[in-house]
Amino acid sequence: MTFGNLLITGGCGFIGSNFVRYWLEQHPESKVVVYDKLTYAGRKENLADLWDSPNLSLVVGDIGDMEAVRQACTEHQIDLIVNFAAETHVDQSILGPLVFTDTNVRGTHVLLEVARELGLRLHHISTDEVYGHIRDNHQSIETDELSPRSPYAASKAAADQLVQAYAITYGLSVTITRGANNVGPYQYPEKAVPLFSTNAILGEAIPVYGDGLQMRDYAHVYDHCTGIETVLLKGQIGEVYNVGTGREMTNLEMVDIVLDTLSKDHSLVRHVADRPGHDRRYSMNVNKLRGLGWQPRYDPRRAVAEAARWYADNRAWWEPIRSGEFRDYYDRQYAERLAGAKP
Ligand code: NAD
Ligand code: TYD
Repeated sequence: MTFGNLLITGGCGFIGSNFVRYWLEQHPESKVVVYDKLTYAGRKENLADLWDSPNLSLVVGDIGDMEAVRQACTEHQIDLIVNFAAETHVDQSILGPLVFTDTNVRGTHVLLEVARELGLRLHHISTDEVYGHIRDNHQSIETDELSPRSPYAASKAAADQLVQAYAITYGLSVTITRGANNVGPYQYPEKAVPLFSTNAILGEAIPVYGDGLQMRDYAHVYDHCTGIETVLLKGQIGEVYNVGTGREMTNLEMVDIVLDTLSKDHSLVRHVADRPGHDRRYSMNVNKLRGLGWQPRYDPRRAVAEAARWYADNRAWWEPIRSGEFRDYYDRQYAERLAGAKP
């Protein structure tokens, strides 16, 4: 299967920009329109070297604006919408949850309505967080019940269910991928791996929530991109596919890899007050996607190490971010925590 014109919502964010880059390399005949609101996490510079390409254009807009989405789709003769656009950080969803519903739920709903009206396929990017906390001897499979526990996860689960409802009710051509914790180039430094990497490079404390024994599958964004591509080309319409490595590590193990990669001292680690409702473990079975012939290139250790190295090699990308609006968020989130921290 091939696609002509793609509308990639959230294409200026972390995973979206990696996907746009990957897709244009692999499918040079394809045209990509990035549709992005350019929130604090959406950065045009993530695709700085590509904007001159005749195959790439940008529409600045909100996915909740039905008229603007419809116009972008008709003007650019879109065949497929890939929806990366979202508010994405659990801690931000605890501080200010309503925008998560606006974008992640209502915004996705608007995309579904436009896809229905114009007869487009829609691929929706979801997350392992919709499954909630996973008990020790289980790995989530795609048919497991959704049990989200943060405002972010709840908004993503609601979007998944709308997408599935549109497939059932209207016969809309949809697919969903649920990604594990991604790491790699251009991840906004509020997320754990880039935050810890950039703090370590600056010699600042590493704020580990609680005991640091929470478990995550840290997957390289490259493998997420190839997983999405596999589902677009070979996935069954109406189906959901997990995308991750299928292997977890504790946050303390992740911190060790970051510090060792950057040759920084472990005395930077501080155990700080935990995140409310912090999910203890995410873990997914990825055999369904493997069944389409996909396999990850990176194991989680290498994924985290390569991500940390990218931040060491690309200070010019993140230093302006960390000196701007990011500081207000950082102080709100960490000043009190770090004041009461334990080594
Ligand atoms: P990100 O925060 O880096 O980027 C989100 C992008 O969406 C930004 O470019 C932002 O400007 C844009 N956006 C936000 N609200 C918008 C709106 N109303 N209209 C249009 N654009 C809007 O996010 P990310 O980490 O790249 O995540 C991308 C997708 O992947 C999200 O749907 C997220 O839930 C999902 N996901 C992320 C991870 C992860 O580890 N980062 C894991 C699994 C799934
Ligand atoms: P994060 O990157 O926010 O992803 P998610 O919450 O979606 O899994 O966090 C990854 C893990 O790191 C998670 O268990 C929370 C933890 N964490 C910390 O311990 N300290 C921090 O400052 C942050 C941002 C996260």
